[in-house]
Amino acid sequence: MKVTVVGAGNVGATCADVLAYKEVANEIVLLDIKEGFAEGKALDIWQKAPIDLYDSRTIGVTNDYSKTANSNIVVITSGLPRKPGMSRDDLIGINAGIVKTVTENVIQHSPDAIIIVVSNPLDVMTYCAHIHSKFPRTRVMGMAGILDTARYRAFLAEALNCSPKDIQAMLLGGHGDTMVPLPRYTTVSGIPVTELIDKDKLDAIVDRTINGGGELVKLMGTSAWYAPGSAAAQMVEAIARDQKRIFPVCIELQGEYGIKDCYLGVPVVLGKNGVERIIELKLNDEEKALLEISRGKVKEVMSVLDNMPAAV
Ligand code: NAI
Ligand code: 2OP
Repeated sequence: MKVTVVGAGNVGATCADVLAYKEVANEIVLLDIKEGFAEGKALDIWQKAPIDLYDSRTIGVTNDYSKTANSNIVVITSGLPRKPGMSRDDLIGINAGIVKTVTENVIQHSPDAIIIVVSNPLDVMTYCAHIHSKFPRTRVMGMAGILDTARYRAFLAEALNCSPKDIQAMLLGGHGDTMVPLPRYTTVSGIPVTELIDKDKLDAIVDRTINGGGELVKLMGTSAWYAPGSAAAQMVEAIARDQKRIFPVCIELQGEYGIKDCYLGVPVVLGKNGVERIIELKLNDEEKALLEISRGKVKEVMSVLDNMPAAV
């Protein structure tokens, strides 16, 4: 199994580190445009192997896509992160050009790869990678839902004073202020969360989840990387080990949930073929209305991309 991670910054390097540590791939290539940067990060990860006892070979390269040839899975994390005061959508101007170029290089050397996009604005960068790869939608997906549900689960575990391991949750929609956490599909070891927590407290947790990325940007001056890197690695693992895991993943909807030609997070089964199935939940009217707002927002940003001559 060969995995390439493009972008050796905070998220990309964390993802490569988790993949190596968990021995998800025997060959991991980290690529960055900044001279020597990926080489240094990869060497550091490789030098950790005798301590943490893994044997995934990790190498770094500066913009040399020939070294990524025949990757089974490629994770794209290249691009600017947010600074305080910026929304994810503000990044489109620069990141669209980066994701387009990276995708074109990736597919030239790995025509059968499965692509996982992490760069923001996530849903629209997934669209960007999809149109430039021309791959079937099952092989081009975006990571956001695992991160957003992880934040929701972590906040719930804190409020309930229980293990985050026991909290199961699902979430729909775009990666931004219009994401749709689903309390109706949230359980704590099988117990509906609504039986364990007051509505006001649950509403506050949903709200904190929606603003979870911004909370970290305010604290650190840049966006998060530990949870995002691990979340991307979890998607790689599900595909590499054909685990058939069910996660919220961003994919082009072609009629599911009554939505067409829009990229949104929905529950999917991840296995060796990428997205193997989309699961359609029976939403109530309130959930449907929230998903419609999210669709509208993502479509707005998709049309910004459509009108950027350098990126389409
Ligand atoms: P970072 O600035 O630490 O790393 C980005 C790396 O991309 C840099 O090392 C840079 O040199 C590299 N890069 C830029 N252009 C490139 C190109 N053409 N080819 C190869 N490498 C290139 O940023 P960080 O924190 O790692 O975030 C990366 C992206 O992921 C950002 O767009 C951020 O908003 C996004 N993100 C998305 C999340 C999600 O849930 N989908 C969560 C966290 C971050
Ligand atoms: C996050 O949610 C910035 O999208 C990134 O942390």
